[in-house]
Amino acid sequence: MKKVRKAVIPVAGLGTRFLPATKAMPKEMLTVVDRPVVQYAVDEALEAGIEHIVFVTGRNKHVIEDYFDIQPELLDTLTRSGKHDQLASLQRLQLSAGTVSFTRQQSPHGLGHAVWCARDIIGDEPFALLLPDMVSFGKRGCLSGIMELYERTGGNVIAVEQCDPTETNKYGIVGKGRDVATGFAVTGMVEKPEPAVAPSNFYINGRYILQPEVFELLGTQERGAGNEIQLTDAMRRLSQVQDFHAHPYKGRTFDCGSKEGFIQANVAFALARSDIRDLVFGPIAEMISGQERRNEAA
Ligand code: UTP
Repeated sequence: MKKVRKAVIPVAGLGTRFLPATKAMPKEMLTVVDRPVVQYAVDEALEAGIEHIVFVTGRNKHVIEDYFDIQPELLDTLTRSGKHDQLASLQRLQLSAGTVSFTRQQSPHGLGHAVWCARDIIGDEPFALLLPDMVSFGKRGCLSGIMELYERTGGNVIAVEQCDPTETNKYGIVGKGRDVATGFAVTGMVEKPEPAVAPSNFYINGRYILQPEVFELLGTQERGAGNEIQLTDAMRRLSQVQDFHAHPYKGRTFDCGSKEGFIQANVAFALARSDIRDLVFGPIAEMISGQERRNEAA
């Protein structure tokens, strides 16, 4: 079984659900508390043992490259002004030279196309894929869990969570087969099925380990839902010839590509931070009880 060394993080989408904020600012750079959304995905990848990160970028995304580069003026200023804590925290986040690659998706033809753009850098080995706007919140990063299942099963592994059974038409849903180690065998994948026909309420939450054969299937450039090249379509075809397993994530994922998911993530991460919790908890609790009183009076 080949080791998973590289992770693809696609950041070339237009982020239309978050306009106007994303007109000039990549949605992956919106901050949850004090870190850009994409930083959470990088931390999760490193925690899971990933050695090389491949960003698939697009036009108007230069700021992501700058963010992962060294900023000598900033480091000098922090050193001279004795801001050692800030300096140390920036240095901790710095990715080593040569462990990051950037490739361009020239037009946003969909997630499947973005992944395909990484094919030459990935080569003939399994790889992790993290959708950065899906931010994992839990004791452990989601990717570590699917990596462990991969070490038992090989093949392709995806992370899943359970959605409200009435909301399956918002997600990519998998069918649940027999239990295997910390997960189960996937019996099918359907994009946004109506609740009456959904095979389960397990949805794909944006973390994958995929075999390189997926690139050949993506390379046929077949268009699916929304006239985009869909990753789910290629995975469904791959699942006819290779194993797919799913690992239910024990934490929770916030869809930071949506306004409500982004706000919920900010609240959840702020309340989990010992340096900020007390500063935000009281005012949020007051706002909620004030709103409840107004609702009752109305
Ligand atoms: P989304 O579907 O959430 O991204 O893709 P989007 O298209 O930017 O969002 P909306 O629906 O218009 O608001 C999940 C991830 O895949 C990337 C996005 O940047 C995001 O990180 N992506 C999506 C690409 O890199 N290229 C694409 O063509 C589409």
